[in-house]
Amino acid sequence: MSGLCPLTGNYYKKMAKVLSAIQPSGDLHLGNYLGAVRQWVASQEDNDSYFFIVDLHALTLDISPETLRSNTIKTAASLVASGLDQAKCTLFLQSHVPQHTALTWLLECTASYGELLRMTQFKDKGKGQESVRAGLLTYPVLMAADILLYNIDFVPVGDDQKQHLELTRNVAGRFNNRYGDTFVVPEAKVPEIGARIMDLQNPANKMSKSTATPLGTIGVMDDPKDIEKKIKKAVTDSSMLICYDRENHPGVTNLLEILSAVTGTNPLKLTEDFSNYGELKKAVAEAVIEALRPIRTKYYEILDNEDTLSEILRAGSEKAEVIAAVTLEKARRAMGLL
Ligand code: TYM
Repeated sequence: MSGLCPLTGNYYKKMAKVLSAIQPSGDLHLGNYLGAVRQWVASQEDNDSYFFIVDLHALTLDISPETLRSNTIKTAASLVASGLDQAKCTLFLQSHVPQHTALTWLLECTASYGELLRMTQFKDKGKGQESVRAGLLTYPVLMAADILLYNIDFVPVGDDQKQHLELTRNVAGRFNNRYGDTFVVPEAKVPEIGARIMDLQNPANKMSKSTATPLGTIGVMDDPKDIEKKIKKAVTDSSMLICYDRENHPGVTNLLEILSAVTGTNPLKLTEDFSNYGELKKAVAEAVIEALRPIRTKYYEILDNEDTLSEILRAGSEKAEVIAAVTLEKARRAMGLL
């Protein structure tokens, strides 16, 4: 972000503010890493960056207290092992900053019931459940509060979060129109390659911890032998063609997309490098194993040192709360609360 200063006429460069978050679902999967976390690690180098674990969002589905606790620690360790560095970014836990829930109420009185019902994630996650938690419906409002508290310019996310980001923009714009300029309206940053990594067994579905078959999801902390096995067994296509075409050849396209995201080579160029699926799978497995190896090693070192991890999260939450408190107060006043 740059321009000419209206006061001095000098050229200035302002650090962009970047924020993103992840659910505490334990170890990351390859989709989380390629679609989101890798971007976060790069962005912390020259932006004012905020990353956190959304433990409150996890309560929208049934999760045992023990699982939530242990998944939160594992997710934090995964993020640090992936390269997030407290000296370069603010890393914290959503529930440690009470302003997230306080702003959510103000925004729930700005968002409409109809727009929340239209969220595809609400429809997908609520499907087939005996009782749908109210929090699942208002999930995207908590997400809007997560972002709007910090005056954020860019939100690096995978493709599946685009609709939530649109809702955040709409709610912020509506609030600003009704109560005066209060929130920065953020923009989603979705990577060109890797924004939608698909399940290896069912390439019509995105890779995900909750819905996938065990063979369909690659965990960032998976043993190299398991990664090799999963990629070897990945569903491809009876045509034997190697082409980059999501609609007609989703399985092979997903493998090309993974290889492209890991190596930085254009996926169309990659179609010329292989003559059969065996060769392609071997290259994908090797590239993925090598990319994840250092993260896996670091992860186990960090997990051994839970106190350091807790201290990182505590310090991050303290920093985040200072900013969040100012925005919450601004929003309260704008709405007429004494
Ligand atoms: P979550 O925890 O489902 O996923 C974390 C990030 O990983 C991306 N992602 C993927 N990218 C590519 N391919 C996939 N198969 C794949 N699966 C997941 C997601 O797009 C996301 O960027 N609602 C959010 C968490 C959240 C949040 C926020 C995000 C809460 N508040 C504020 C940004 C800003 C979620 O459930 O992400």
